[in-house]
Amino acid sequence: MDQRKKLIGPFKQLLSLANLPIKGALKDVDMEVLEHAGLLLEGGKIKAVGSFEELKAANTQGTEIIELTDDYVVLPGYIDCHTHIAFGGNRANDFAMRNAGSSYLEIAEAGGGIWSTVKHTRALSEEELADLTSKRADMLLKQGITTVEVKSGYGLNVEEELKTLRAVKKANQHSAADLISTCLAAHMCPKDFEGTPEEYLAGIVDQLFPILKEESLTTRIDAFVERSAFSAEQTKPYFEKAKDLGFDITIHADQFSTSGSALAVELAAVSADHLEASGDPEVLALAQSDVVAVALPAASLGIGCAFTPARKLLDAGASLAIATDWNPGSAPMGKLIESASILATMEKLSNAEVLSAITYRAAKALNLPDRGRLVEGLLADFVIYKTDNYQNITYLQGALQPAQVWKSGKKVVD
Ligand code: NIG
Ligand code: FE
Repeated sequence: MDQRKKLIGPFKQLLSLANLPIKGALKDVDMEVLEHAGLLLEGGKIKAVGSFEELKAANTQGTEIIELTDDYVVLPGYIDCHTHIAFGGNRANDFAMRNAGSSYLEIAEAGGGIWSTVKHTRALSEEELADLTSKRADMLLKQGITTVEVKSGYGLNVEEELKTLRAVKKANQHSAADLISTCLAAHMCPKDFEGTPEEYLAGIVDQLFPILKEESLTTRIDAFVERSAFSAEQTKPYFEKAKDLGFDITIHADQFSTSGSALAVELAAVSADHLEASGDPEVLALAQSDVVAVALPAASLGIGCAFTPARKLLDAGASLAIATDWNPGSAPMGKLIESASILATMEKLSNAEVLSAITYRAAKALNLPDRGRLVEGLLADFVIYKTDNYQNITYLQGALQPAQVWKSGKKVVD
């Protein structure tokens, strides 16, 4: 860790997102936009945020000054709180079949669906999977994403889930982004498991969970609660065991039918993700809880279904995060600003709501209080654009790329 102090600026606009609430609707005027601002960094963290000239005058000794001469905008590094980037293979044929009118079942019967990705992922070595994962994380990093959640779930037995989570741990050492792993052994009941879904889940609890703890492979447990995967009844005891062991809970909920969001509220999950099928009662229950609602617009675009009712969730008072859901089946695009900007258009979201959803609200979904805003004491993770107006980020729907990305006080993309 570079211990030397660094001062960077002046920025035409600095969006610290300080003091914005964790829940509810936001207007752009709620965001304080600092002008001629600087960021003082020390030991990988933010030491101070304020007027560049004042910080410069106060830090003359031993501080590296990085003086910018054009118009730049800076904001907290993005946090992609839901991805499945540890996968092998490709599902272009699923996409073509779906667009030609085939159903989920027909696609699965033709050799597609989650199970086909399981077969391709199982065929990879741990090293190969780690390599693919860190390369994808680096692609996200170039978009300004400094923290990437990564789920397992294409292994679907003890050994293969372990291989995936160990590969994510290795990938974390190779990528400059922080990779936060999640165990999604409950993605579907594996086709080669001889027993009931309840027996499969019990086996994961008994055999996999203790090793996850021993090897510190993850602090988070997820399940796909849906007709094609597991019911709320089947996953409730599974999640309760996970909670007893101290894991955070996150749920793939209400994707195609209302299934899972009520369980997320009941179990005080950190997040309920998808929610495309959530109706008014589910929206209200989420809004009254501390569960972060995670919208995954790239999955709506990938499979051609409704968008998460983001406007309703925010107006009801929920905390909304937005993530890529990057996976080979439902969300192959892997683009955060592009998909979040499209969600903004479709759901009428303010810039403040979008930017909060991919920074400090996404940090809350991952239970990471050390990042997501540009304030003293938090990680010095930030993204810089060469532009004079932050509104251009969503307006240009991803066409404006970051000029620089910084992670823990170090420039990692230039
Ligand atoms: O979040 N919904 C379940 N899981 C993934 C899709 C996984 C796949 O199709 O491979 C999702 O969309
Ligand atoms: Fe997902």
